[in-house]
Amino acid sequence: MPTEIAIKPFRFKCASSVLPPGSKSLTNRAMILAALAGGRTRIEGALFSRDTEIMADCLARLGYVVNLNRFEKTVEIESPGSRPPNSCARLHVGNAGTAARFVTALAALRRGGKYRFDCDEPMRSRPMAGLIEALESQGASFEFLGEKNALPFILKAEGLKGGGVSVDAGASSQMLSALLMVSAFADSPMRVSLRGDTVSKPFVEMTLGIMSQFGVKADFENGAYSAAFSPSAGAERVYCVEPDATAASYFIALPAVAGGACEIKNFADCRLQGDAAFCGILSKAGLIDCFAVGGSLVAEASERRDFPESLELDFNDISDTFLTLAAISPLLPFKLSIRGIGHTRAQETDRVAACAAQLRKFCAKVDETEDSISITPHPPERLAEIAQTTTLVNTYADHRIAMSFSILASRDVRGDGRPWIAIEDPGCVSKTWAEFFEVLYTARSDSGALRVVAVDGGAAVGKSSVSKECARILGYMHVDTGAHYRTVAYALLGEGISPGDPALVAERLKSVKLGTVLCGNSARATLDGKLVDDALIRTERVNSEVAKFAAIAEVREFLKSYQRSMADFARSHGFAGLIMEGRDIGSVIFPDADVRIFLDADEQTRAARRAREGIADSIGLRDAMDRSRKTAPLRCPESAERIDTSNMTKEEVVRLTLSLILES
Ligand code: DC
Repeated sequence: MPTEIAIKPFRFKCASSVLPPGSKSLTNRAMILAALAGGRTRIEGALFSRDTEIMADCLARLGYVVNLNRFEKTVEIESPGSRPPNSCARLHVGNAGTAARFVTALAALRRGGKYRFDCDEPMRSRPMAGLIEALESQGASFEFLGEKNALPFILKAEGLKGGGVSVDAGASSQMLSALLMVSAFADSPMRVSLRGDTVSKPFVEMTLGIMSQFGVKADFENGAYSAAFSPSAGAERVYCVEPDATAASYFIALPAVAGGACEIKNFADCRLQGDAAFCGILSKAGLIDCFAVGGSLVAEASERRDFPESLELDFNDISDTFLTLAAISPLLPFKLSIRGIGHTRAQETDRVAACAAQLRKFCAKVDETEDSISITPHPPERLAEIAQTTTLVNTYADHRIAMSFSILASRDVRGDGRPWIAIEDPGCVSKTWAEFFEVLYTARSDSGALRVVAVDGGAAVGKSSVSKECARILGYMHVDTGAHYRTVAYALLGEGISPGDPALVAERLKSVKLGTVLCGNSARATLDGKLVDDALIRTERVNSEVAKFAAIAEVREFLKSYQRSMADFARSHGFAGLIMEGRDIGSVIFPDADVRIFLDADEQTRAARRAREGIADSIGLRDAMDRSRKTAPLRCPESAERIDTSNMTKEEVVRLTLSLILES
């Protein structure tokens, strides 16, 4: 990995789909619980990162059989039962908070065990005291090799005697989680109570949730948790890790920065992670709109413009995502304050201080208190000035700082697509998402290739409204080819030419001069250099004759080359994609389109839609003609996605279509 990486801003709106890696928190909890529960466990969708490899390494050193398959993203663990098989081991927990706390608690279960724990420098000052004191009260003893109540140390384990134990998890909820997971394996039933409060309660909920999935049920009664393990028959289990909701937060924020939309695959599986709430917070703040499609979440840039002067949010429950929002604050049109984040000062780095130091490079004013950060952005012109030179963001070996500020860097602040932010030590993202920069890179639509979307279907199925809306969201060029046929019909009818005389139509077609003009992001046909008023091509007369003209092979041939030329037109006008609607786009005009969608609806629904629009249009008759003609008849192209819109709202069809485009 280079020592720094300059992030290329998004020149086009975002239009991508991302599958986040497996959750780090759940992968590491699943490994500990697999060791505790005994038998064979296959963990699927596991995260492979430094922290999870550290956990796997510690378990292997403790004597559990651990098989990693990085390619298949599986971890298989064979455990003879809860207590570590090896009575003696040297364990290195790196800078992984989960490994430091969970493995210490696991190792304490072994009677007569002696384990030497070491770690990376930053982990030496991260909180361990609450857990250490609780384990000491349960029979463990510690010899500290550096500071008291901190890593590195030698743990002399004597099993956990059980009974009442209270833990101070004020500095990190992982200490409570660690104790809860091992509590069911103490010598006698253990009741775990919390001294004071804890931070990041959703992580405790996550621990209880995954414990129950492994057969360890915890009750909370009279202020204490008591857990019991009921081994499942055969002790063979498969555990599927949820996608990482914190990792997803970067791509949920991306449309707020780059515009467009981003799909987060399998987001619906994020059931145990509190950070899944981030999208709700961002959408409540008016920065994105988000909706579920199938198992995915789609985040889309919001149209909102009426922001308050300032916004104050409490991120205590989802503090891993506070950096995601804080880092994009230089782009926000309001002052932002985030509180409830004091405990993140003791994470990978002092995140509040680190974030403030980096934001000062881009913002008018950044203030910190012990528990909060307040950011006043510069006006956009000042930020554009700052962006004239590339600013290096220091990352303090913290993956979340690197990823968050890369999202900020994705805004084309200069307007010329040139980088204005470089990220120091990009390799630090391997802690949770080694491929992050590749994924961000491929989320950009400036590969030079135009993404072509064909939307076909009969009259009044909703093609136009859906195509226009998707094109608006993604910043793609929109083309209505029905209007082309209507323009030709209007021109020829105006000359008194009837579609009943195909030879004359073919002859006079040569004098029809079509051009193109861009109206917003719709490319519209001109006739003799002039835009024809939409009302003129949608008269009852044109409605009744257009399908007859459209059935003439020469008319179709004439429009085929015109319609195909729209791809070059879109490219030369700087669009990353083209959405073309019609009857034969996915079958004839662009049979190799990236996305081919066929909309359908029953005739009653379509007639009702036309009636609502106040348009006299015998759509049944037109469709019959369009279906039965010899050249390019209307039909659902093979392997196109057919959507029956009869019982769907327009919004539902847009969402489904959008997600099909994003996934392509
Ligand atoms: O989409 P529309 O209803 O405005 O289309 C008008 C007519 O044009 C329709 O009856 C069939 C014809 N048409 C076509 O044959 N092929 C296309 N790609 C688009 C429209």
